[in-house]
Amino acid sequence: MAIERTLSIIKPDATERNLTGKINALFEDSGLRIVAQRRIRLSREQAETFYEVHKERSFFGELVDYMISGPVVAQVLEGENAIAHHREIMGATNPANAEPGTVRKEFALNVQENSVHGSDSVETAAKEISFFFSDADIVG
Ligand code: CMP
Repeated sequence: MAIERTLSIIKPDATERNLTGKINALFEDSGLRIVAQRRIRLSREQAETFYEVHKERSFFGELVDYMISGPVVAQVLEGENAIAHHREIMGATNPANAEPGTVRKEFALNVQENSVHGSDSVETAAKEISFFFSDADIVG
C-alpha cells in the first residue's frame, strides 16, 4: 500500500465544542500521523472556493455560512492508504448512517454539522492540501 497524504478539516461544530483533541486522538490511534495543522477562520471567499464543486447544490449557501461560523482546524494526515483510511475513520457523511467508533457517529450533529471533512481522491487531496499549506508547512 502507498503512503499518502490527505487534507482533513475539523469543522466549526467540533471546534465550538472543544473536540479537536478527541478527534485527533481517533485519527492518531487509527495510525494516521498529523504532519501539518493550522487553526483558522475561513473567509466567505475561501469557503466558497474550497467547496466550489458543490456550488450548484441546494445546500451550498448554508454550507458556506456554517463553514465561516467559527474556527476550523485544517490538517494534513499521512499514512498508508491515508485517503481511504481517513474516510473510514470519519464515517458516513450523514452521522445517522455512520458506523460506531467513527468520528461522525461519536461527534457529528447532523449531515451538515458533521464535524470533519476529508479529501476523496489523490487528485482532490493534492489540490485541497495546497489550498491550506505550502510544502514547507508539512513535516513528516
Ligand atoms: P463534506 O465532506 O465537507 O463535503 C460537503 C459538505 O456539505 C458535507 O461534508 C456536509 O457538511 C455538507 N452536506 C452534505 N450533504 C448535505 C445536505 N444534504 N444538507 C446540508 N449539508 C450537506
